[in-house]
Amino acid sequence: MKCLIVLLFTVYHVSALHPYSEQDEYDFKLWMSQFGKTYDIDEYYHRLQIFFENKGKIDHHNKGNHKFTMGLNQFSDLTFDEFRRSFLLTEPQNCSATKGNHVSSDGPYPDSVDWRTKGNYVTDVKNQGPCGSCWTFSTTGCLESVTAIATKKLLHLSEQQLVDCAQAFNNHGCNGGLPSQAFEYIKYNKGLMTEDDYPYTAHDGTCKFKADLAAAFVKDVINITKYDEMDMLDAVARHNPVSFAYEVTSDFMHYQSGVYTSTVCHNTTDTVNHAVLAVGYGNEKGLAYWIVKNSWGTNWGMKGYFFIERGKNMCGLAACSSYPLAMV
Ligand SMILES: *[C@@H]1O[C@H](CO)[C@@H](O)[C@H](O)[C@H]1NC(C)=O
Ligand SMILES: *[C@@H]1O[C@H](CO)[C@@H](O)[C@H](O)[C@H]1NC(C)=O
Ligand SMILES: *[C@@H]1O[C@H](CO)[C@@H](O)[C@H](O)[C@H]1NC(C)=O
Repeated sequence: MKCLIVLLFTVYHVSALHPYSEQDEYDFKLWMSQFGKTYDIDEYYHRLQIFFENKGKIDHHNKGNHKFTMGLNQFSDLTFDEFRRSFLLTEPQNCSATKGNHVSSDGPYPDSVDWRTKGNYVTDVKNQGPCGSCWTFSTTGCLESVTAIATKKLLHLSEQQLVDCAQAFNNHGCNGGLPSQAFEYIKYNKGLMTEDDYPYTAHDGTCKFKADLAAAFVKDVINITKYDEMDMLDAVARHNPVSFAYEVTSDFMHYQSGVYTSTVCHNTTDTVNHAVLAVGYGNEKGLAYWIVKNSWGTNWGMKGYFFIERGKNMCGLAACSSYPLAMV
């Protein structure tokens, strides 16, 4: 009897340390090969534990009644804290266009708009890697589209130039920045080079801008009044995709499909920590959403895109949005 108690205790003890099953370890190995991950032996067990916890959250979420699903992706072996430090803006940004200079019409607006299907106006989803440079991808994505709509030529523009050169406009390379401040930089710098001429490294570097290779230009920066989501809609419906920032919380890391909504994120200018590009909007079973281009590669979300609920300043998405006017 005594022996049995000790044995039970041992089994319980072992399973408390390693609560994952053989199936979980199999899933982890499959995921590792899918995402090309390798670890040394200590790291392996540490990452397996985190993977197991993330997979538990994902499975639990997907059993519930939610407007979006979660899934495994390249971030599934990271805690949110690790993710936040590598991929998000960790300092509050100065975004406060109390009164913007976007001039709205009174509509009416189409029920849905998708700049990806209106013409060749949106470049493929890119991957920022472990650098807090989301703001540069939001900026290039927007200027690429604005320029393509004006010229019918879709260029791939340089994020690295913004990482390396835009410091004088309150931007901080891999430590963050804002699209509106990046558009200001491009305007005063008189141009942005292409991705080919100034390739992305995901590291802070010294500025290597060459004026004779400038390929896209900003005539003016249009800020949208803070929290005015109707002005964002007006801009996307009538003009072009729009850059915006919002707050990413831990569940967003695992987003896979559907309309993202949250009851835990904040909605003010001082809490935004990620910048992206609204390329359109629509409705699904009465739920209005934005179509958003992210910069975490095509394995994340819906081929790199996500939907987020529209009309409620969800996670502060209307806190600081902007777009440039192209000079052609
Ligand atoms: C905000 O603006 C102030 C004043 O221009 C500047 O010193 C500070 O670095 C800015 N903060 C960020 C995160 O850009
Ligand atoms: C737009 O925002 C940028 C950066 O926040 C700012 O420097 C600029 O003055 C604003 N432009 C207008 C017209 O308000
Ligand atoms: C933020 O959310 C709260 C709670 O839903 C709401 O009362 C408030 O008006 C929102 N603020 C903004 C700026 O959207």
